[in-house]
Amino acid sequence: MSELFWFEKYRPRSFDEVVDLEEVKARLREFVRSGNMPHLLFYGPPGTGKTTMALVLARELYGEYWRENTLELNASDERGINVIRERVKEFARTAPVGKAPFKLVILDEADNMTSDAQQALRRIMEMYAQNTRFILLANYISGIIEPIQSRTVMIRFSPLPKEAVFARLRYIADNEGVKITDDALEAIYEFTQGDMRRAINALQIAATTGKEITEETVAKALGMVSPRLLRETLNDAFRGNFGKAATQIYGFVVDGGIGELEIVKQLHREALKLDVPEYLKPEIAYIIAEAHYAILRGAHGLTQIYGALAKIRKLLKYTAST
Ligand SMILES: Nc1ncnc2c1ncn2[C@@H]1O[C@H](COP(=O)(O)OP(=O)(O)OP(=O)(O)O)[C@@H](O)[C@H]1O
Ligand SMILES: [Mg+2]
Repeated sequence: MSELFWFEKYRPRSFDEVVDLEEVKARLREFVRSGNMPHLLFYGPPGTGKTTMALVLARELYGEYWRENTLELNASDERGINVIRERVKEFARTAPVGKAPFKLVILDEADNMTSDAQQALRRIMEMYAQNTRFILLANYISGIIEPIQSRTVMIRFSPLPKEAVFARLRYIADNEGVKITDDALEAIYEFTQGDMRRAINALQIAATTGKEITEETVAKALGMVSPRLLRETLNDAFRGNFGKAATQIYGFVVDGGIGELEIVKQLHREALKLDVPEYLKPEIAYIIAEAHYAILRGAHGLTQIYGALAKIRKLLKYTAST
């Protein structure tokens, strides 16, 4: 993929460059050290380092010969299991280049294969086990059949923690000569929730303004409301000037071009972080969920948002006076 994308340009090439994932690194390093490894299954949400780790492992195992010894396939691109079988057969026919004891097949999107195809895959894995190892990549472990699960060492990837994402974004920003505020980093994390690909993308898009990246630039680049502004608006809506809050929200939609559903989602996030008694939070969540549903069914977005805010205001007031 094009190096124009920062997430590709800055895809780690060694274990040292990979942030977080200490346990995974330790296990994979052990495979490299011992020169042997089982079949692996990496699973977890998008942008959490699965493909990156598979490629880093290939580089660490084979050094300069990593390309020759690695076959990358995509289970959903390739037309069916027969293509996979043919390509693995062809690839496994020749001995590994260099001193490596085995070659590596990386099969992406394995959870998109039908269970029949996975049964066939299992046999292919066994047939070539002598000189190949498979790394299967998947988003959902539930999409992988039991017999394959039991023949692989499963490694789970989770959304990356905030500090890890911050460290990587700071590194990239420095390298690109881009200035970014701590608030902006917070906002990126808030919007991307541990998906490093989306976080790096957000940074790149926000950087196109050419100025220092702030919370506002990030929100604008991603078509969202600045979390700080939204918090101020909520404060107005619930504790102060409701009309002012409504005007703000009208501005987000009409001037800012931000979708009402997006606003509802952000509202949900911010409202649950409000400093209100815990027992009220389910009620607040429910009110917002109703507005979301109504908008999906075709109700007028702004009306629904104002209505939800009014209901929450009432709820908070009511309890404040009892
Ligand atoms: N731990 C990490 N350290 C540094 N960069 C990372 C890390 N994890 C992910 N990245 C960055 O995020 C990008 C996306 O990661 P990767 O392609 O590994 O995700 P993935 O888990 O394979 O996602 P998907 O399920 O969507 O295929 C990489 O190109 C890399 O730039
Ligand atoms: Mg991937």
